[in-house]
Amino acid sequence: MNYFMSFILCLCLTWTIIQAFYSISRSKVTSKKLPPGPKAFPIIGNLLELVGHKPQKSMAKLANTHGPLMTLMLGQKTTIVISSADLAKEVLQQHDQFFCNRTIPESVVAGNEHEFSLPWLPVSAKWRNLRRICKSHLFANQILDANQNLRRKKVQELLADIHNSSLNGDAVDIGKAAFKTSLNLLSNTIFSVDLADPNSATGRELSKLVHSILEVGSRPNLADYFPVLKKVDPQGIRRQMTIYFGKMIDLFSSIISQRLLQRKTLGSIKNNDMLDTLLRISEESTGEIDKTQIARLFVDLFLAGNDTTSATLEWAMAELLYNPEVLSKAKAELKQIIGKGNAMVESDIDRLPYLQAIVKETFRLHPPVPLLLPRKAGAHVEIQGFSVPKGAQVLVNIWAIGRDASIWEIPNSFEPGRFMGSEIDVKGRNFELIPFGAGRRMCPGLPLALRMLHLMLGSLIHTFDWKVEGGFKPKDIYFEEKFGLTLQKAKPLRAIPIMV
Ligand code: HEM
Ligand SMILES: *[C@@H]1O[C@H](CO)[C@@H](O)[C@H](O)[C@H]1NC(C)=O
Ligand SMILES: *[C@@H]1O[C@H](CO)[C@@H](O)[C@H](O)[C@H]1NC(C)=O
Ligand SMILES: *[C@@H]1O[C@H](CO)[C@@H](O)[C@H](O)[C@H]1NC(C)=O
Repeated sequence: MNYFMSFILCLCLTWTIIQAFYSISRSKVTSKKLPPGPKAFPIIGNLLELVGHKPQKSMAKLANTHGPLMTLMLGQKTTIVISSADLAKEVLQQHDQFFCNRTIPESVVAGNEHEFSLPWLPVSAKWRNLRRICKSHLFANQILDANQNLRRKKVQELLADIHNSSLNGDAVDIGKAAFKTSLNLLSNTIFSVDLADPNSATGRELSKLVHSILEVGSRPNLADYFPVLKKVDPQGIRRQMTIYFGKMIDLFSSIISQRLLQRKTLGSIKNNDMLDTLLRISEESTGEIDKTQIARLFVDLFLAGNDTTSATLEWAMAELLYNPEVLSKAKAELKQIIGKGNAMVESDIDRLPYLQAIVKETFRLHPPVPLLLPRKAGAHVEIQGFSVPKGAQVLVNIWAIGRDASIWEIPNSFEPGRFMGSEIDVKGRNFELIPFGAGRRMCPGLPLALRMLHLMLGSLIHTFDWKVEGGFKPKDIYFEEKFGLTLQKAKPLRAIPIMV
């Protein structure tokens, strides 16, 4: 063992002893006991059981033994894992007022992101203001209706690209196409720029930064599990993240400055995008949002909206190609409602119940955020006779709930038909299906995400027939999962398009 490791262990040991005394003195106050869980080793707790790349899977396995309300010690961090729809409802609806703040990973403390950034800000005036701007100015239905042409153009370009591949008989990397298009849909909705354009220097730079942030951010960080290490930042994660966040904010600030300059010299040409809206708000009333806050908000929207949307699209295509009878039903619906040779538009979505069912079923089996971003108990809360202590981290395992055989018939089978004629949606009301979370912290980007997903998926299968390149691999290889900050497909999906 090298000097550094012994130093860390020493620190941790000291900390554990202090904590032990602390909890003995506290146990008089909170008499109820923690939910059951696997035996925790001293210092490291249950970290070893979670080593590997699929924490949602390891946690689901442990929950099979210890129950849907379970305690894990992640190093020094008391973590309560929720793995049933009923308990998710208790935490995210009934007790939402106590669980609406998050535990902040050290990587986010970088650049003080947690003091500005929507996903990490505690419930406060600042957070409410940003949520309100999102809800009424960015993701409201009439706003998204008004700028849908920005997205339609990008989908047409995607289809033209794929048409080209079909003429040459070339396979398309569905994941890459999905990434490119969802990023462009997002960046055009936000500020009318094609960020996925390989000729755009800004796009390449941003892409590099996002990669770095997601890569560094998904590394397990010792400082998260052992509070004594916070100052030390042993892996340099906070230092690196501070640099990347700073660069990303600079990049967006310069896009905003360009737009401001353009407005000065050319008058305000309406782009009808989010940037226009936000600049109008900042000019009309002072204090609501300024230029730096807009840049920071954009950072949040890109980090939260890009990988989630594209990963879902890739999974949906993979499931459709693997389940040809589902695919042909979906194509029949599109043909009937939209008509052969016609382009799908966003207003068609409401009239395509089977396509909607496919998207729900994809979320059930492949939720891109398998473990809900951590919530923190703001008070000592009792749940089903057990104690969730103040400060504990609460994780809801959405992935496990999608596989719960007491809710879902044949849970591992891709059966969109189960949602036909059912009232279940993904909007945080039905706790058996909460890919966007629930309660006041639920994903604000949901309306945009659903539009982009249905539009891209519907267009891809309405316009083309698809053949998997080289035929199918065995199911478990084909559907293997890779966990970063979002749940991605491990093996890329390549398929050959054939013009319908
Ligand atoms: C398939 C697509 C998406 C999925 C599955 C998804 C899922 C989620 C989930 C699970 C949360 C945490 C909710 C909770 O704690 O209850 C979240 C938060 C968030 N999402 Fe999404 N999201 C998606 C797309 C988007 C898009 C397109 C945007 C914006 C452009 C976005 C912006 C955000 C933001 C800003 C938060 C933080 C909200 C807060 O903490 O107050 N998301 N999302
Ligand atoms: C189509 O492919 C040809 C070469 O195969 C290329 O020159 C052309 O730019 C492509 N068009 C589009 C729209 O990608
Ligand atoms: C978007 O997501 C894809 C897939 O994870 C990634 O390769 C790409 O760099 C991301 N780009 C941006 C700007 O977020
Ligand atoms: C959330 O955090 C804010 C700011 O730190 C605090 O005022 C509030 O009491 C917290 N709420 C809960 C339920 O933890």
